[in-house]
Amino acid sequence: MKSSCRRLLFTTATAMILSCPAWLSAAAIPDSLFPLPENVRQIMNNRCVMCHGEVHDGKTEMREDLDLSTDARIRETLSEAGRLKEVLVKNEMPQKAKLSFRLRRNPKMKEQLETIKAEYDKNGEKEVFLAWLKDITATDTPDKKKKEKE
Ligand code: HEC
Repeated sequence: MKSSCRRLLFTTATAMILSCPAWLSAAAIPDSLFPLPENVRQIMNNRCVMCHGEVHDGKTEMREDLDLSTDARIRETLSEAGRLKEVLVKNEMPQKAKLSFRLRRNPKMKEQLETIKAEYDKNGEKEVFLAWLKDITATDTPDKKKKEKE
């Protein structure tokens, strides 16, 4: 009796430990964020997919392996929601975003990126994103370049 009880406890504890990574990854991108609200989806489409999921000249542009074009692709390619919040809070995206070499050669793309940055700021689109991510804690990734200098 005693030993079977102990075995049960052990089995339960093992099961909990084994399922832990699943809990963590589930929390990294909470289900509550989906489906994307219509206004959030629109901003993603207008300001972000140009570099994260849109096809240009037959090739999908996917900077940093991130595809924001659909809810399913966000779940598959975003490391964690906190990282998304971080780049928005720190004004890294889209303000500091750079075109890939192949798109940079196209003057139209340069123009489009300038429009993206201007419109994003003018329309207060960051606030729409942050309202959607209100329950998410932003991560804090050290700046690579700054670190190298230290
Ligand atoms: C002009 C191209 C471009 C646009 C537009 C752009 N990004 Fe990015 N994005 C990048 C590049 C390049 C990186 C990786 C290098 C860096 O961090 O600067 C990146 C990195 C990211 C990362 C970090 C991914 C990781 O795993 O660390 C997130 C999140 C992100 N972008 C979200 C967005 C969102 C949201 C928007 C729209 C508001 C957006 N991006 C618009 C080019 C772009």
